[in-house]
Amino acid sequence: MELEGNGIMQRIYLDYNASTPVDPAVAAAMRPFLEGHFGNPSSGHWAASAANAALEAARSQIAALLGAESDEIIFTSGGSEANNLALKGAAWALKAKGNHIVTSAVEHPAILGPCRFLERQGFEVSVVPVDRFGRVDPDEVARTITPRTILISIMHANNEVGTIQPIGEVGRIARARGVVLHTDAAQSVGKIATDVNALGVDLLSIAGHKVYAPKGVGALYVRRGAPLEPLIHGAGHEGGRRAGTESALLAVGLGAACALAHDPAPMDRIRALRDRLWQRLQAAFGSKVVFNGHPDHRLPNTLNVAFAGHAGAEVLARLDGVAASTGSACHAGQVELSPVLRAMGIAPQVGMGAIRFSLGRGTTQQEIDGVADRLANILASAS
Ligand SMILES: Cc1ncc(COP(=O)(O)O)c(C=O)c1O
Repeated sequence: MELEGNGIMQRIYLDYNASTPVDPAVAAAMRPFLEGHFGNPSSGHWAASAANAALEAARSQIAALLGAESDEIIFTSGGSEANNLALKGAAWALKAKGNHIVTSAVEHPAILGPCRFLERQGFEVSVVPVDRFGRVDPDEVARTITPRTILISIMHANNEVGTIQPIGEVGRIARARGVVLHTDAAQSVGKIATDVNALGVDLLSIAGHKVYAPKGVGALYVRRGAPLEPLIHGAGHEGGRRAGTESALLAVGLGAACALAHDPAPMDRIRALRDRLWQRLQAAFGSKVVFNGHPDHRLPNTLNVAFAGHAGAEVLARLDGVAASTGSACHAGQVELSPVLRAMGIAPQVGMGAIRFSLGRGTTQQEIDGVADRLANILASAS
């Protein structure tokens, strides 16, 4: 956080849960499809073959990261579309069987929104609460299932506090009760293991721009045989499940990003830096800094902390040049306590001071130490 030689505050990006930069290897893989290979992947001639081969290779790369089959991957425009397709698509396909959906109290708006919409269509939605660490109790999920339950949607990891849900256990319950299980893995893919069979999920959402691919691309994993009505009708793209000419350019980007995400080494380094930040803050502030989220079941890059007696937005504003988030970046600007922290039972006077630092591949120790020093100065002068 030193001043650079030109007197401009060094910029530090600690908002990787909001969006990641495109990895240089991803950009390199995409370039030939920006500059050439323009053919429609569905055409039958020479101009299509490179685009079509690349589209299918990218599908395999995504499937490999998830332990899935290629034909179980549908390209979408991002995490929100994947979530909408999962929820509306499964609900519509299963409406003859029942109308009850189970979700959790800490979901992203891209789950809450489709749930509210489906309620207006006559579906019933039950929201399972979370504990103070932000975790659902699988037994509570089991108790919420009724003979009319057709779908459970519980996120894999939370965007604000990083808490990882016990999806494997929920998966065993869902399977035993014959209920389709969806998980929003927008934040977990590339950070922790996301094998669809270990998790026991039927549907899983991915967002490209959280995993060093560009914005505008995502994917939905759909287990073979899982019922799904398309949202976008048209020609038979994506196995008839999402019409529209596929972008080989964007698909290649997501595929390359998933191929890179197999390597656990960057995440080990990121976890160590995240823990260093927390240790430095604890050393500086003691009990005046509180930690939000689960101590163990948490994304390795995420640290949500609250400074007692300070508004998170004010602290961030004084951390000039540091990009981090209060509440969730997707709905920043809100002054009230975030729904996630509220659902965790965090007291408003604590939650108001919450800041989410989310680290990524570009984060350095120098940046972490700079932010810790700067916070100590700011809060010492403010108290
Ligand atoms: C958990 C979660 N789900 C879904 C989304 C939405 O993804 P996208 O921005 O690709 O639509 C986000 C983005 O913040 C997210 O964090």
